[in-house]
Amino acid sequence: MKAFVIDRYGSRGGVRAAEMPEPEVGDDDVLVQIHAAGINPLDSKIKDGEFKLILPYRLPLILGNDVAGVVARAGSQVRRFKPGDEVYARPDKDRIGTFAEFISMKEDAVAKKPGELTMEEAASIPLVGLTAWQALIEKANLKKGQKVLIHAGSGGVGTFAIQLAKHVGAIVATTTSAANFDLVKRLGADIVIDYRKDDFEQILQDYDVVLNSLGGEILDKSLRVLKPGGKLISISGPPDPAFAKDMRLSWIMRQAIRFLSYRIRTKAKRHRVSYSFLFMRANGDQLREISSLIDSGIIRPVVDRVFPFASTNEAMAYVETGRAKGKVVVKVR
Ligand SMILES: NC(=O)c1ccc[n+]([C@@H]2O[C@H](COP(=O)([O-])OP(=O)(O)OC[C@H]3O[C@@H](n4cnc5c(N)ncnc54)[C@H](OP(=O)(O)O)[C@@H]3O)[C@@H](O)[C@H]2O)c1
Repeated sequence: MKAFVIDRYGSRGGVRAAEMPEPEVGDDDVLVQIHAAGINPLDSKIKDGEFKLILPYRLPLILGNDVAGVVARAGSQVRRFKPGDEVYARPDKDRIGTFAEFISMKEDAVAKKPGELTMEEAASIPLVGLTAWQALIEKANLKKGQKVLIHAGSGGVGTFAIQLAKHVGAIVATTTSAANFDLVKRLGADIVIDYRKDDFEQILQDYDVVLNSLGGEILDKSLRVLKPGGKLISISGPPDPAFAKDMRLSWIMRQAIRFLSYRIRTKAKRHRVSYSFLFMRANGDQLREISSLIDSGIIRPVVDRVFPFASTNEAMAYVETGRAKGKVVVKVR
């Protein structure tokens, strides 16, 4: 089958078009013929080797962490899906590879595609939808009337997270640049801050939750807009000891990660708020809940650009600019 792979880690060069064997299908796996694949900053980070100590993949590696397609075959123990079903998924982190014609995934990672969505729209959802769900619903337990700051509201995660937080009944503040004000307001943001002009720390106070996807001093400033008992959840690092434990990392890696997040965890304690890092995971059950929000028109996909499969490198380069408005997808067939 056709696929886009990396042969080694490193920031130079992109993915290489290759002919790869069709994946094997285990008893509880579904083989999906891929119609569309979503692009995420994670793809470039894996390509550049940023995750090689945490996620040791075998090379050559087919990249890609989001998929929509049709079930081609189901393993003998698969109960929920049959050939012909239209599905979408974020595959398990150990079994990525959606920049290809086929992928085999555990049935637990997969859900039926929301009926009204095109394949390209569906492929834009799983990774960012699950990230927002696991941050705002699972970790933050966000409730009606609470105040949440969602950084980078115009990005892939932000466009989904704003809609989810509004659905819960929260008051949503977000940061973006002026060109994206209309977009984030249409999605439901109540307070929109132009990060190029204004300092969110001077405008917001007594927040219950911050979802951080940015780096540098934004993390420190985010602590200061929280009220005591508030929660700072970061998806852009630094990773925390709970993450190291979940990932079953070596003793030395656990110590390194403890050290990396020591400063922000100490500051959080001093401010009487909590700091936690989220590394999202595949979850077909949560994806089913997301499907029903999409089917009932509560959440809609925001797709910036669709590239042909042959232009997967260009699609990744576009996401790497950091200027995407919502999601970028490649149309595989
Ligand atoms: N840990 C996890 O499980 C997890 C899961 C998903 C994503 N992530 C990480 O989260 C980050 C965001 O992911 P994404 O998919 O949402 O990225 P994305 O779609 O590439 O984000 C692009 C958006 O970010 C906005 N932006 C850039 N700099 C900004 C700033 N300083 N302040 C406010 N907005 C800014 C841009 O708006 P302008 O054009 O207006 O600047 C653009 O619309 C990435 O680092 C990704 O790797 C982690």
